[in-house]
Amino acid sequence: MEATKLRVNGKRLRASLEEMARIGATPGGGVQRLALSDEDKKARDLFVKWLQELSLEVSIDEMGNIFGRRQGRNNSLPPVMMGSHVDSQPRGGRFDGILGVMGALEVMRTLAENKVQTERPILIVDWTNEEGSRFAPAMVASGVWAGVLDRDYAYGRTDLNGRKQGEELERIGYRGQGPAKKWPTHAYYEYHIEQGPMLERQGKTIGAPKGILCLHWYDVYLTGEANQVGPTPMEGRHDALVAAAEMILAVRALPARLKGNMVATVGEIQNYPNSRNIIPDRVHFTVDIRSWDNDHALKAWDLAKKDFQDIATRHGTPLKIDETWRVVPAPFNQKLVQRVLETAKELGYSSLPMVSGAGHDASYMNQVCPTAMIFVPSIGGRSHVEVENTTWEDCEAGANVLLHCILKTAEEK
Ligand code: GLV
Ligand code: MN
Ligand code: MN
Repeated sequence: MEATKLRVNGKRLRASLEEMARIGATPGGGVQRLALSDEDKKARDLFVKWLQELSLEVSIDEMGNIFGRRQGRNNSLPPVMMGSHVDSQPRGGRFDGILGVMGALEVMRTLAENKVQTERPILIVDWTNEEGSRFAPAMVASGVWAGVLDRDYAYGRTDLNGRKQGEELERIGYRGQGPAKKWPTHAYYEYHIEQGPMLERQGKTIGAPKGILCLHWYDVYLTGEANQVGPTPMEGRHDALVAAAEMILAVRALPARLKGNMVATVGEIQNYPNSRNIIPDRVHFTVDIRSWDNDHALKAWDLAKKDFQDIATRHGTPLKIDETWRVVPAPFNQKLVQRVLETAKELGYSSLPMVSGAGHDASYMNQVCPTAMIFVPSIGGRSHVEVENTTWEDCEAGANVLLHCILKTAEEK
């Protein structure tokens, strides 16, 4: 068949997504496949089986990244890569990440059944621990692969139960042999749900982000003084949770204070001993700041730190801060972004240039090679929740755009 007439098989894509959604399915209709959990392992095993059925050359590196390579006519040329992640948030959705992996798999299946040959090799990838929810930071394995993060630092990161990321990789059998080290790559495409409301609001099918916001993550630890809540007077308490509450409100106020394009969130908190009749003496919470302007996000953090110090002093709750992770904004390759828009048009889909507020492995890939993303609408703009949804029709549309972007890019000499 003439290459321009090729289309993915939407029914098959749906079936793959539905089969994956059974792994870690939650009662509320979502999935929970935390990085390196038993569910993540099951999803990986199924993915590897599907890669093998396509006779792709499968390899797993020391960060557990899974690659499937399809040879081109000229295998000395750097490959074109596509993929995303199979891990999820706690009680997350059925599309975040997995759509990009199953969409890329559907592209591989379409090429195989139509016996399409491309000039360059094509690689599909599942990046380990994109979410960063169980082990911070996020996108850690693409970060190591890209040469930005250190492997042993990644191995040493712990979850709330003190389990190390490296040991969990080993436990589920996905600490591979090959080095997690970038190779010359011609281009990278990541297909993903939008995770926000813009496409739906504007009635468009395909989003072409011009890039991804910066992501800055911080961990804040407070120490107070525990005591019996009944006999202890209100004056003179050192209540770590009350201090944290004021700090959380200070974070919430940052975007309005700085009047810029920015979001700031506290999403995770641990309170100890977490008993209704003990004054809390230990609190940990996280801060997430994102903006298209890295300096703006840094300025916000300076303000927050000053506020935190004042609040901690007032409450007598000493403070420890870890500046856990920073990723600079990722402006994508303009030629590839344009290609996404043009391809959507050629296929008869409406499209919208936009910005990604969500983090993706594409941020680190953007530091390795020309990179772009393809977005499809999230119903109600909801994501990282069980009700996350995208129509099957849109899933198919995005996969067709991916297919043709890959075909064009893999023909480049
Ligand atoms: C990744 O899912 C992020 O945007 O936090
Ligand atoms: Mn994702
Ligand atoms: Mn996510």
